[in-house]
Amino acid sequence: MRGKFKSSDCAVWQYNFSRKHTPVPDIYPLHSSSMVRQFGPGPRYGMSLKTPHTLADRFDQKLFDAIYSRALVYNTCWEDPAVDRLALNIQNDDTMLVITSAGCNILDYALTGPRRIHAVDANPRQNALLELKLAGIRRLQFHDFFAAFGSGYHPHFRALYFDALRAELSPYAQRFWDRHVDWFGSRSGSFYYHGLSGIVARAFRAYLKVRPRLAAGIAELFATHSLDHQRHIYDTRVRPLMWTSGVNWALSRQLTLSMLGVPHPQRKEVQEQHERGVAGFVRDAVDYVARQLPFRSNYFWSVYVRGRYTETCCPEYLKRDNFAALKAGLADRVLLHTATVTEFLKATDERISKFVLLDHMDWMSSYYPHALAEEWSFILRRATPNARIIFRSAHATPGYLEHLEPGPRRGRLQDHLVFHPGLAARLQRLDRVHTYAGFHIADLKA
Ligand SMILES: C[S@@+](CC[C@H](N)C(=O)[O-])C[C@H]1O[C@@H](n2cnc3c(N)ncnc32)[C@H](O)[C@@H]1O
Repeated sequence: MRGKFKSSDCAVWQYNFSRKHTPVPDIYPLHSSSMVRQFGPGPRYGMSLKTPHTLADRFDQKLFDAIYSRALVYNTCWEDPAVDRLALNIQNDDTMLVITSAGCNILDYALTGPRRIHAVDANPRQNALLELKLAGIRRLQFHDFFAAFGSGYHPHFRALYFDALRAELSPYAQRFWDRHVDWFGSRSGSFYYHGLSGIVARAFRAYLKVRPRLAAGIAELFATHSLDHQRHIYDTRVRPLMWTSGVNWALSRQLTLSMLGVPHPQRKEVQEQHERGVAGFVRDAVDYVARQLPFRSNYFWSVYVRGRYTETCCPEYLKRDNFAALKAGLADRVLLHTATVTEFLKATDERISKFVLLDHMDWMSSYYPHALAEEWSFILRRATPNARIIFRSAHATPGYLEHLEPGPRRGRLQDHLVFHPGLAARLQRLDRVHTYAGFHIADLKA
């Protein structure tokens, strides 16, 4: 599977019924021995490993790889596409490469009408989730679609799946959803309590059940229309009850963070920057979104507290008119690829004008710096002259940006890019997620 790719090998799903794919193994270890086999031990070029890994680190990484490579991690995107849109200024002739995660943001960008979006993810389950959403957009009416992906519960989803959706899916996605179709069918539950991040949401819901005063305060936070009143509720009825030693302890466990898709190198980046560690960092993020931005429409934090979206607090693709626009053809511009970014860029002959790389480089920089250097060498090769690249990081100024060399005799990555720190800082103040210390907007140097 992981030999040199010919474009015909790449698992490309063109939703308009041309079927071509490569069977995807069930266990898809993103960063594993196959990486070392492919790239050889130790860095060839690029940058050296920052800190040697302790036994505990290796255990944490093994734990992360073990649970990550068998599971759907993200049941919703945890990055703010409204901020991304302002940074990207997407045009009709844009060809985008976007890492899929849960696919919500890809559908958001599709609403702006770019020529094409290549949705790339190394975890086939993430693509299987986007496949199901795209099939739902094509085959379902709005009320059925919103019940499943808005409320996270549809009483007849199993029938809808087998009658209307399954035939639209790739063999891998069929195998996956055949096993998990009931994630949308439990009245007391919700799809948003499934997947690894969903398990953390379910644990938080159980916690709120035994903290009724805190739960009531949070409910009022989502109900108020006034930011001043919201601030007052947060300062008097939520903050004093929220940050107990138990919550701080749970937040700083690597297992909790692994479930949220945060491997230990990323945890360390946060700990290095914050005197109160991960719990302190998360607390500051919640302080900001609860005191500076309207909580009422903050669908990121709402879905993890309520386990569902509402029609007034949800991602753009779940709004009735936007659903109609996607159904009318915008969704056809999305192509899915189960591959690493490097593999996709090696296999495609498209030039890419907009890159959305999420925070995946934090994952690679510590364990596979040479793979990251190789990825950038292909990004630079496939980018159009006016290409824009956005990504996030746990560290405000990640070390890998300073040292990375995208290939022998190509100098430092920084020599190839123009960063816009002022614009990034301004937009970050609007970010409704607010759990990334770094937001980066870069253009290819002419
Ligand atoms: C760090 S997470 C980003 C999640 C994002 N912060 C969110 O909350 O929506 C990375 C996503 O990128 C994928 N990924 C990580 N490294 C990758 C690579 N080299 N190529 C393609 N996908 C990758 C993972 O499968 C995961 O879905």
